[in-house]
Amino acid sequence: MANVEQSFIAFFSNLVQPTVLIFVVVLLLSLWILSSRNPRVNWPPGPLCFPVVGCLPQMMISGRRRQPTDLLPWYDKYGDIMHVKLGEQHMIMLGTYELIQEAFVKNATTVSARPTWIYLLRYIVGRDGAGVIFKSGHEWKELRRFTLSSLRDLGLGRKSLQERIQDEARYLVQNIENENGKTFSPKERIGNAVSNIISTIVFGARYDYRETPEMLSVLEQSLRIGQGSLTLTDLARFFLPLEKILALSDKLYSLIRQEVEKHRQSFDPTDIRDFVDLFIKVIQDGHDPEVYTEWNVFRIIVDLYFAGTETTTNTLRWSLIHMVNHPDVQKRVQREIDQVIGQGRVANMEDKARMSFTEATILEVLRMSPVAPLGVPHATSETTILAGYTIPKDTMIVADFYRILHDENNFQDPYKFKPERWLDGDAKVTKSDKMIPFSMGPRVCLGKGLAEMELFIFLTTLLQNFTFKIPDGEKPPDGVEGSYADTFAPHVYNVCAVRR
Ligand code: HEM
Repeated sequence: MANVEQSFIAFFSNLVQPTVLIFVVVLLLSLWILSSRNPRVNWPPGPLCFPVVGCLPQMMISGRRRQPTDLLPWYDKYGDIMHVKLGEQHMIMLGTYELIQEAFVKNATTVSARPTWIYLLRYIVGRDGAGVIFKSGHEWKELRRFTLSSLRDLGLGRKSLQERIQDEARYLVQNIENENGKTFSPKERIGNAVSNIISTIVFGARYDYRETPEMLSVLEQSLRIGQGSLTLTDLARFFLPLEKILALSDKLYSLIRQEVEKHRQSFDPTDIRDFVDLFIKVIQDGHDPEVYTEWNVFRIIVDLYFAGTETTTNTLRWSLIHMVNHPDVQKRVQREIDQVIGQGRVANMEDKARMSFTEATILEVLRMSPVAPLGVPHATSETTILAGYTIPKDTMIVADFYRILHDENNFQDPYKFKPERWLDGDAKVTKSDKMIPFSMGPRVCLGKGLAEMELFIFLTTLLQNFTFKIPDGEKPPDGVEGSYADTFAPHVYNVCAVRR
């Protein structure tokens, strides 16, 4: 009897399992087809999306080289505005200047939020966001205004931002001088110089290049955790080291708290030294306590490091690549430096107006090698019509700056490094609307002015003091392809710096 019962069960379990499985799959597929046929939503064209994983399989095939050029062929197939699904997450990609303007400028009121519902962001900053990069709505406006005015106030303070950058440029020159013209990798020291600028703004301190403070190494470790587009899917929960992320964040906040405590002990409202002092003052003044919370201000500090360090460092690293690969351009910039600045002093921002070729060279680096090729994702806070498509609330909107800056219709020979393209017949700089490596609209990069100042002063000081060369026997560094994770960075390379 027991045997009959067992064979009966075995027979049914064999029959039922595949049947149930097929039933569940058909049910899920029907639900998915029905849900994607929502008549109120008409998505732009895009690659076929599968349940659960969306377009990730195709993205992984097309994007396996991890270059910002990987998805460009998709625009030829689907058009300038595309609908892509990252797992269950809807994303719209904008591939022309006009579309980005329509979204980020004309529809700024509904396309300026951030997708903080995404698993990893929710995990790090919470569903309501925090700080300036990941906050939305009126709190974001207030915190952005506070951060911008802080940068302005600190720039106008006792020791201006410009002087701090000039000092740091001198340290960088000294450090490179120690190499005595031998082969070295510029990556770490440029990174140290640039992060020192943020450190002086935030904590009023710079650090020796040989002793990385714990805070910077924790920040750097947190930055490395990103996994490109996968980070933006809810699937991130299965492969990201969440416990490590949490431990790093806790460590970071406790280090920031220690610094704030130190500042509190020597705080003098008549002598504001840095961003932390401004924060203490705003809390003491009792200004909008709902917005000026410790949590928001800690996140702004992290944002300034995240957004202000890798971006400028990588742009300077790309600059040196273009200089060694185009010695004629390097020579022309040096000639301009000799004429306008000479050897007796460090560059200042007033010089820039008289140095068109140098300005054109920096513009060309920002165009050719944009370090934030897809910027930071925006999100719709309401249903929005873009290019005639109805895009629902809570959709991620991504601008493809790389495509705009490498579109043959905007810039001839886009993959050639040609600073002259920025000069008119009178050798004056001609700006282009399409030059948007810092994005546009109310979310435009908050550190644009600071980045421009750093790029100009660091690059001119380096070229005033050294001629950079490819080391004997080494291949020229790659000026087009790099490594693309959170920012677009060049591959590691070596140079020689010959004292002028
Ligand atoms: C070459 C250097 C840089 C480039 C190319 C760059 C580019 C960008 C881009 C494309 C965005 C996204 C804008 C958007 O969401 O539409 C952004 C945002 C931002 N950047 Fe930069 N950036 C640079 C340097 C800096 C520096 C030095 C700082 C430091 C103060 C900074 C702070 C920020 C902040 C705080 C945001 C978020 C603004 C907001 O959400 O309101 N950036 N940047």
